Amino acid sequence: MRNLTSKELRSLYLQFFKGKGHVIVDNASLIPENDPTVLFTTAGMHPLVPYLLGERHPAGKRLVNVQKCVRTGDIDEVGDTSHCTFFEMLGNWSLGDYFKKEAIAYSFEFLTDEKWLGIPKEKLYFTCFEGDADAPRDTVSHDRWVDMGVEESHIFYLPKKYNWWGPAGQTGPCGPDTEMFYDTGKLACTDTCSPACSCGKYLEIWNNVFMEFNKKEDGAFEPLAQKNVDTGMGLDRTVATLQGVQSVYDTDAFTGILATIARLSGKQYGKSEEITKAFRIIADHIRCGVFMIGDPRGIVPGNVDQGYILRRLLRRALRFAMQLTIEQGGLGHVAQAVITQYKDNYTELINKQDYIIDEINKEEQRFTKTLKKGIKEFERLLPTLTDKRIDGKNVFRLYDTFGFPLEFTIELAREHGFHVDEQGYHEAFADHQKKSQMGAEHRFKGGMADNAENTTKLHTATHLLQAALRDVLRDKNIAQRGSNITAERLRFDFSFPRKLTKEELDAVEFMVNEIIQADLPVTYEEMTVEKAKKMGAIGLFESKYAEIVKVYSMGDFSREICGGPHAGSTGELGRFKIKKEEASSAGVRRIKAVLQCDPSLLI
Ligand code: ALA
Repeated sequence: MRNLTSKELRSLYLQFFKGKGHVIVDNASLIPENDPTVLFTTAGMHPLVPYLLGERHPAGKRLVNVQKCVRTGDIDEVGDTSHCTFFEMLGNWSLGDYFKKEAIAYSFEFLTDEKWLGIPKEKLYFTCFEGDADAPRDTVSHDRWVDMGVEESHIFYLPKKYNWWGPAGQTGPCGPDTEMFYDTGKLACTDTCSPACSCGKYLEIWNNVFMEFNKKEDGAFEPLAQKNVDTGMGLDRTVATLQGVQSVYDTDAFTGILATIARLSGKQYGKSEEITKAFRIIADHIRCGVFMIGDPRGIVPGNVDQGYILRRLLRRALRFAMQLTIEQGGLGHVAQAVITQYKDNYTELINKQDYIIDEINKEEQRFTKTLKKGIKEFERLLPTLTDKRIDGKNVFRLYDTFGFPLEFTIELAREHGFHVDEQGYHEAFADHQKKSQMGAEHRFKGGMADNAENTTKLHTATHLLQAALRDVLRDKNIAQRGSNITAERLRFDFSFPRKLTKEELDAVEFMVNEIIQADLPVTYEEMTVEKAKKMGAIGLFESKYAEIVKVYSMGDFSREICGGPHAGSTGELGRFKIKKEEASSAGVRRIKAVLQCDPSLLI
């Protein structure tokens, strides 16, 4: 088996699939474009959903990429073991081209051939879908692994719970999968131990999903017109396997980052469980934060949506930095180490490095202020308590409002001769979680494939808005800083140094409505990024690999690099109305707008 660094695995993977006729496509943003049902890109398939559903991809039918992803789940639980909030997923894609036979042959060759990973086939185990009322038993995959020379005893059939992937939301593309596991050599926990078991003997390293269904809102699995392959290999996790280390944090990707934390804290990683945990949380959360702030659709710490998740990550990292007695400003150095590790593969990080570090430092200052206020609140609270005991609700309030972790409150309480109702705190915490999960489910219900007609129209309106802003404000440097569309409204963030006047807003609104009334056709053309730039198309030009992109035009008024989909013509949009203009962050303005159906204006 080859011992590869993460950079080597990344480039070998791309090279292998390029050799099999795949086009290397660029990373998509961490924030899904026009998909209000999820906050972050959680898997490589996410940005490719329209193409899995049949939309033509400009780069063709065979693609390969490394997609940055964020999965936050419950932040307070991640970072302590080998789970990461940020990860990179290697993936090869067939959009209605090859299917199970080729996909499995490619996976087997890449895993076992000496020229690639060279993992002995005896160390590999495989699982296939056992079949149910929705889809048949996947004997094709099973037989294909046998053709490759895999022993029957290394192949397991498992139910949907284990061998089915997607949809990422409630609806959308999905299908049975076949998964590849590495046998770590640990003894089997029981006679029935299998790759379905989490005892640690079998480590999943790759997943080939055969996306041939579209899950509908009524729960039915409708066969897709095209059969796709979506694969996902976790980069860090596979590197850990190849390097023979127990945790992703012990791979080369984290060496520089952990060394920086050691230098700043004067503590040694691995010295105690507590120290190891703090190092890992800081490393994970700052890595994730750097990628969020540095993303082409950049996020800044805030109180809602993605900004809130970023704030929680940074503040949690700060708490653990305090525990390690890292001085104020230290996390900026950790961020620098992250940028150094990833800059070759993510140019956006180097371009925005000062900005990223500045945002992290600013959040640190804000958090320090909140902590001070929290301590005042704590000192005010103590004399009101009669039994030297802080009840659960108050402990939770200190956590929720002032970011005081339980351990921190216990410590402070002890210093003042008080004790803490831990049980009551956990109950208040669980109660809050239940409520916020219900909220999140409500907000993010619906699926990724939810290209509701109105969402599509608002997407088209967003292009018109950006073109109108550039025209009215006479500023060609106005750039998109964020876009978020729900079925009800669009929200567009753009770089501009000051508040817009009422006259300017009226002029923008008027101009967009004129274009709507002119009923311009919405068309697209596929071309190289270079040609798109020459034609004056705007868009996120972070593209390093993707040679061919789609450029959407609305007459001559707007020309933008974009994956679509869009309305057929501008006349379909109804009446455009700006609801609000406000600051989003320093140098970034935010506009919220809606489309009103006004038949008198429809052509
Ligand atoms: N979409 C599949 C996964 O995330 C490959 O595992």
